[in-house]
Amino acid sequence: MNTIRLINKPFFFLFTITLFFTVNASFAQPDGAKLFKANCAACHKPDKDLVGPALKGALERWEGNEEMLMLWVKNPQKALETGDQQVKKLYDEWSPKGGMMTPQSLNDEEIMAVFAYADAYAPPAPKVEQGGKITYVKQDDSWLWLAVLSVLLITAILVLRSVVNVLQNAIRIEKGEDLESAIPVGDSIGNWLSNNKVLTFFITLFIVIALFIKVWDEALAIGVYEGYKPVQPIEYSHEVHAGKLEIECVYCHSGALQSRTAMIPSANVCMNCHNAVSEGPLTGTEEIQKIYDALGWDGSAYTGETTPIEWVKVHNLPDHVYFSHQQHYVVGDVDCTECHGDMTKETVGKQNAKLTMAWCLECHNTMEIDINSSAYYDEVHNRLLEHGEEELKGYLEDGKITVRELGGFECSKCHY
Ligand code: HEC
Ligand code: HEC
Ligand code: HEC
Ligand code: HEC
Ligand code: HEC
Ligand code: HEC
Repeated sequence: MNTIRLINKPFFFLFTITLFFTVNASFAQPDGAKLFKANCAACHKPDKDLVGPALKGALERWEGNEEMLMLWVKNPQKALETGDQQVKKLYDEWSPKGGMMTPQSLNDEEIMAVFAYADAYAPPAPKVEQGGKITYVKQDDSWLWLAVLSVLLITAILVLRSVVNVLQNAIRIEKGEDLESAIPVGDSIGNWLSNNKVLTFFITLFIVIALFIKVWDEALAIGVYEGYKPVQPIEYSHEVHAGKLEIECVYCHSGALQSRTAMIPSANVCMNCHNAVSEGPLTGTEEIQKIYDALGWDGSAYTGETTPIEWVKVHNLPDHVYFSHQQHYVVGDVDCTECHGDMTKETVGKQNAKLTMAWCLECHNTMEIDINSSAYYDEVHNRLLEHGEEELKGYLEDGKITVRELGGFECSKCHY
C-alpha cells in the first residue's frame, strides 16, 4: 500500500503540471511575428514604408479610434464606407501609390499581436563575419612561369656549354693540341640520352603525365560557367527588391525552406505587390506590364489569356549530382550569400561560384557545424555516441566538427 502511495504522489504531481501546461498552451498568445510574415509582409515592413505605411506606432496613431483600426484591417472597404476621417485621410494619402489594402482574415487578438510585434521590432544587427570563411583561390598561372623558366634554363645551358668549350680550348692551346669546335647541341643531347636511359625514361613519363593532367583539367573546365548572367525576359532587379526593398530571399525563393530547389517565384507572387505597384523608377511601366501580360491582367480583371514567363535557368548542376537547398539553408544554416554572393547588388540572377565538385568539397572540408544548433544534430550526436564516447571525443578533439567529419565527403551523399 505504502509503495503505491509513493509512486502515485509524483505521478499525480506530474499529471497536474502537464494538465496545467496543456490548458495554458491553448490560451497562449498568437505569434505576432509569424502572423505578420504570413499576412502583412508582402505590403508592410515594421519600420519602413513599403506598399503601405510602416506598421510601427500604428496603435499610437489610432489611439481612441481602435475599433475603426480593427475594422480597417479586417475590411478596409467597409471602414472607408463609414466615412471615418482618419480612414479617409489614410486612403487618400496611400491609395495613389499602394492601391487599397486587401481584407485580412485575422481576429482582434491576432491583429494586436501583429502590432505588438511591429512596435517591438528592431532591425537585425548585421551578421558578424566569422573566421573560417572560404576563399576561392584563382587559377594560378604556374604553367606560364614553368615555360619561362625552361627557356631561361635552356639559354643558360647553351651559354655554359660555349663557356666550357672556350675554357677547354684554352687548355688545349696551353698543351699545344689542335683546337676543337663544340659538339653540335643535337648530337650531345643524343649522346646524353643514350648514356642515361633510366633517367630519360622517367623524364619522358613525367612530361606525358603532366600533359595528361593539363588536358584533363581543361576537359573538366568545360561546362563550368562562373559569372554566367543571361538576359532574362523581364528586366527584373534583385538590387531593387532584395536590396532597396529588403524583401527576404525566401519570400520569393520559398523552395529553399522545404525542398531541394529554391525555385523561381510564379507571376502570382509578383502580383502580391504589383497589383498595386505598376511603375518602377528605372523602367517605368514597361517591365511590370510584362507581369500583367503573362497573367492576362488588364488592370481590373483577368482575361484568362496567360503566357508563362520564360526565365532562363542560370545554375545547372549535372543530373548525377544531388544537391538540396533545405539541407544547406535550414539544417546547415548556410546563408545564401555563401554560395550565391551578394545578390542584393545584382539585377538578374547570376552564377557566383564554379559549382565544381572541388568547390563543394572545399567548403565541406572546412565549414564547421554547430552540433547544438538543431534537433537534426541531436540525432547525429546520438549516432556518433553509439560509436562510443571515444570516437565522439576524436571528432571533438580539435574542438570542432566539420561537414566532412559528418560524411560530407562520401560519394553517395552527392551522387545518385
Ligand atoms: C496587399 C497589400 C497589403 C497587405 C497584404 C496588408 N496591407 Fe495594410 N495597408 C496596405 C496599404 C496600401 C495601406 C495604405 C492605405 C491604402 O491605400 O489602402 C495599408 C494600411 C494599413 C494600416 C494603416 C496604417 C497607419 O498607420 O495608419 C494598418 C494598421 C495596416 N495596413 C495593417 C495591416 C496588417 C496588420 C496587415 C496584415 C494582417 C496588413 N495591413 C496587410 C496594404 C496592405
Ligand atoms: C551551399 C550552397 C548554396 C546555398 C547556401 C544556397 N544555394 Fe542556391 N543554388 C546552389 C546550387 C549548387 C544551385 C544549382 C542547383 C541545381 O542546378 O540543381 C543553386 C540554385 C539556386 C537557384 C536556381 C533554382 C534552383 O533551385 O535550381 C535559386 C533561385 C537559388 N539557388 C537561390 C538560393 C537562395 C534564395 C538561397 C538562400 C535561401 C540559396 N540559393 C542558398 C547552391 C546554394
Ligand atoms: C513584396 C513586394 C514585391 C514583390 C513580391 C515583387 N515586387 Fe517588383 N517591385 C516592388 C516595388 C515596391 C517596386 C517599386 C520600387 C521603387 O519604386 O523603388 C517594384 C519594382 C519592380 C520593377 C521595376 C523596377 C524599376 O526599377 O523600374 C520590376 C520590373 C519588378 N518590380 C518586377 C517584379 C517581378 C518580375 C516580380 C516577381 C518575380 C516582383 N517584381 C515581385 C515590390 C515587389
Ligand atoms: C521579389 C522576388 C525575389 C526576391 C526577393 C529574390 N529573388 Fe532571386 N530571383 C527572382 C526571379 C524572378 C529570378 C529569375 C530571373 C533571374 O534570373 O533574375 C531570380 C533568380 C535568382 C537566381 C538565379 C537562379 C537560376 O536560374 O539559377 C539566384 C541565385 C537568386 N535569384 C538568388 C536570390 C537571393 C540570394 C536573394 C536574396 C538576397 C533573392 N534571389 C531574392 C526573384 C527574387
Ligand atoms: C559554403 C559551404 C558549402 C558548399 C559550397 C556546399 N556545401 Fe554541402 N553542406 C554544407 C554544410 C554546412 C552541410 C551540413 C548540413 C548537414 O549536416 O547535413 C552540408 C551538407 C551537405 C550534404 C548532406 C551531407 C550529410 O551528411 O547528410 C550534401 C549531400 C551536400 N552538402 C552536397 C553538396 C553539394 C553537391 C555541393 C556543391 C554543389 C555542396 N554541398 C556545397 C556546406 C556547403
Ligand atoms: C559534396 C558533394 C560531392 C561529393 C562528396 C562527391 N562529389 Fe563527385 N561531383 C560533385 C559535383 C557537384 C560534380 C559536378 C562537377 C561539374 O559539373 O563540374 C561532381 C562530378 C563528379 C564526376 C564527373 C567528373 C566531373 O568532375 O565533372 C565524377 C567521376 C565524380 N564526381 C566522382 C566522385 C567520387 C568517386 C566521389 C567520392 C570519392 C565523389 N564524386 C564525391 C559533387 C560531389
